Amino acid sequence: MTPSIDRYPFGSEPKHVPTFGVAAIEAEHRELQSHYRALLRALREGEGVTAFGLSFYSFLVHLRRHFHWEEDIMERTGFPDRTAHKSEHDKLMNDAGDFLSSVLNRFEKDDCSAVAKYFGYWLMVHVERHDKELAFFLDAPEHEPLLAAG
Ligand SMILES: [Fe+2]
Ligand SMILES: [Fe+2]
Repeated sequence: MTPSIDRYPFGSEPKHVPTFGVAAIEAEHRELQSHYRALLRALREGEGVTAFGLSFYSFLVHLRRHFHWEEDIMERTGFPDRTAHKSEHDKLMNDAGDFLSSVLNRFEKDDCSAVAKYFGYWLMVHVERHDKELAFFLDAPEHEPLLAAG
C-alpha cells in the first residue's frame, strides 16, 4: 500500500518545511514543496508508472529552476561556500537523469515510491544543512535588495 503523502519527508504540511527567517528562500521552498506534493499525488492516484514518470519530469524541471535561483543568488552575493553547495545540486541532478530513465524503462510502482522518498529525504537533508547556511549568510541588510530583485 502507498503511504499517505503526508508521511513522505518534505511532502508533509507546509509548516514542516524548514524555515530560517529569509522570506525569499522560504517562498522558494514552499513552491518546491507544492511540486513535490504533486509528484506524490501522482504516486498515490496510481495512474501508472508512465504518469508518475511525467510528473517526475515536471518536478525535476522545477527542482532545476530552484537550484538555478539559489546558484544565481550565491554568485551575486559572493556566498563563500557556493562551489560546494552547487556541487551538491549538480550531483543530485546527475542522478536525477538516471532515475528518470529507470522510472520510464524499468521501474514498477514500488520503485517509484522509493524514488519519491529518496528525493524527499535528499531535500530535507540539503535544506537543513546547505540551504540553512545560505539563509544565515543572506540574512543581512546588504543582501535585501538582491533578494528582492531575484
Ligand atoms: Fe533550496
Ligand atoms: Fe541548495
